[in-house]
Amino acid sequence: MKIGVFDSGAGGLSVVKSLLEHNLFDEIIYYGDTARVPYGPKDKNTIIRYSLEALEFFNNFDIDLLITACNTVSAYALEEMNAQSHYPVLGVIEAGVMAVENSFIRKDDAILIIATRATINSKRYEKRLKELGYHNIVALQTGLFVPLVEEGIFGGEILDSTMRYYFRDITEPKAIILGCTHFPLIAKSLQSYFSNETILVHSGEAILEYLEAHYNLFPKSKETELKIFASDNVVGLRKIADDWL
Ligand code: DGL
Repeated sequence: MKIGVFDSGAGGLSVVKSLLEHNLFDEIIYYGDTARVPYGPKDKNTIIRYSLEALEFFNNFDIDLLITACNTVSAYALEEMNAQSHYPVLGVIEAGVMAVENSFIRKDDAILIIATRATINSKRYEKRLKELGYHNIVALQTGLFVPLVEEGIFGGEILDSTMRYYFRDITEPKAIILGCTHFPLIAKSLQSYFSNETILVHSGEAILEYLEAHYNLFPKSKETELKIFASDNVVGLRKIADDWL
């Protein structure tokens, strides 16, 4: 099976990392819209337009399935993308919600959602979780983490003070939904800011659980082949992939 993975930039490589570790696919075509990242501060119509343009890129490949690793795209453009493609387009939000349901998180446990401005404003995570009976939810825009990760800052004083700034009014949650592709890269710092007991819900692992539940996929004997493309500075993106993967 040949799949596409789409993200606004480099962050979706955190999802690719989980997919590669499980070796479920023959080939992954990754496309990062590095010319126009970040999507998080943009409005809905722009996010939809960019996402539909990304579909045109994937028309060059004969893929069986497209995963939009980007939470921001998953929040706004899935319906439009599915309407315009002949393969299924999966987002990460439904998968993240399923991961919460499959974990030891009770309905009254405190859940913190962190994501870009657009994802938080869409209320997609919040609505789905509330429909399922989770009611102790705080949703927080933490967009500054995105450029820090893009700069390769995964720990240290700048990240610590950014966490202190964002989390100044937050009391220890039972679980944190990492509602942005970049955040798994700062998972260790988030974990040590809160506690080792805090459950971190990561899109890459969530989408794997989702694929296993909805598609009959088993690990391949041959390694997954990864091809990386970008709308700008593909050399830079491939370098990031070499460092992260
Ligand atoms: N990929 C985006 C997401 O997961 C984060 C970066 C951006 O703002 O484009 O929401």
